[in-house]
Amino acid sequence: MDYPFEPFKIKMVEPIYMTTREERERILKDAGYNLFNVKSRYITVDLLTDSGTGSMSQFQWAGIMQGDESYAGASSFERFEEAVKKFTGKKFVIPTHQGRAAEKIIAHVLLDKGDIAISNTFFDTTGANFQYQGAILYDLPSPESKNIFSEKMFKGNMDLDRLEKILKEEGKKVKVITMTLTNNTAGGQPVSVSNVKSVRELATKYGVLLHIDACRISENSYFVKMYEPGFDNKSIGEIVKETLSHADIVTMSAKKDGLVNIGGFIATDHEELSMRFKEMLILWEGFPTYGGLAGRDLEAIAIGLMESLDEDYLKYRIQQVRYLGEKFRNMGIPVMWPTGGHAVYVEASRFLPHIKRENFPGQALVVALYLEGGIRTTEIGSLMFGADRDVEHEFVRFAIPRRVYTRSHLDYVVKVMETISETKAHIKGLTIEYEPPFLRHFLVRLKPLA
Ligand code: F0G
Repeated sequence: MDYPFEPFKIKMVEPIYMTTREERERILKDAGYNLFNVKSRYITVDLLTDSGTGSMSQFQWAGIMQGDESYAGASSFERFEEAVKKFTGKKFVIPTHQGRAAEKIIAHVLLDKGDIAISNTFFDTTGANFQYQGAILYDLPSPESKNIFSEKMFKGNMDLDRLEKILKEEGKKVKVITMTLTNNTAGGQPVSVSNVKSVRELATKYGVLLHIDACRISENSYFVKMYEPGFDNKSIGEIVKETLSHADIVTMSAKKDGLVNIGGFIATDHEELSMRFKEMLILWEGFPTYGGLAGRDLEAIAIGLMESLDEDYLKYRIQQVRYLGEKFRNMGIPVMWPTGGHAVYVEASRFLPHIKRENFPGQALVVALYLEGGIRTTEIGSLMFGADRDVEHEFVRFAIPRRVYTRSHLDYVVKVMETISETKAHIKGLTIEYEPPFLRHFLVRLKPLA
């Protein structure tokens, strides 16, 4: 596959610092073999996350200069509100400082102890905020998602049969259904509009609210346009609005498809709910015309949301991810297929079959990537989920920041993976030295097996 044409030129650059292997050995040891503890200046290619790590355009930077920092009624909020309304098609718009702040607010308003919430797959912060309210969670990914190497599209879908079964059995205890688009925890796989529509029908039938986590809705809509029958003549903007028309509540971390470094929002057509969200917003985030953000941030989001709908940009974006995935796959590396919207996921227990699950094959690959080439990735497997969840796969996520890295950076990642592949029999597993009680992957300290 050819590398996609980048529909932009570079106007400002940030240096990358190189490190030696000896330095990286020492840095890893000091960091307890946890890449969250490594300073970014010691990273050569940073694929830890696509969240808040993208480059802004000249129009966004120009917008920042217009930031109106008034506490109430800022004109920046007017521009933000208008853009979010246009993007989502929803009437009421509530800014938040990032995605999880929006999740915390809706969780508080919608859920009580013992209530049930269902998702195609909850992202960790969404699930954690809902659980914090005492809710019981069900992840219902589609049966197709089980085969991580099949060609099938829309593996991010919800399992509709299981959804109806739970709705029937649990009745009024189910308070909300959350559709995560794309499905990050399940490999950034897209969700079809017809699946969202069917979930809507069931939600209506059983009187449950439908919440869409729209972090990566522009990327999801590009897949819909390309692969879902009946959408090829629609614009990405139309597909985004059509998808979200099925939701009662939309939350979005604008750090992804908002193409900004910070920000988020809640959007809904329900006036009463919007008032209750605003009450909590004022308590936790700020007045409803800034919601934990500066006026300049609101300007950047308003512009970024619209830029994310550009088809040339999305084509480049999705193909860049696919390029890396194909290079890996051609080398015989087990890659979740098809590649999703924002990252390439490598199945490390198959890549490093000599490392036992309890010695974290995913984290062993994360460590090897840093040691060999200063590349930072993240483990999504036994280390991240620990004893809390059944872990089926040991993934390493290569998340690609938006509009940041060029072909030579990705080719460098491929070269490092090639070297690792040749010497992988020598890679060692790890054991835990220290672990915190929650979300352990952030603070855990490890050491390699002797
Ligand atoms: N929902 C999804 C699907 C996400 O991927 C994230 C963040 C959030 C919600 C929370 O948004 O970070 O703005 O509070 N995902 C990042 C990641 C952290 O690396 O995948 P936030």
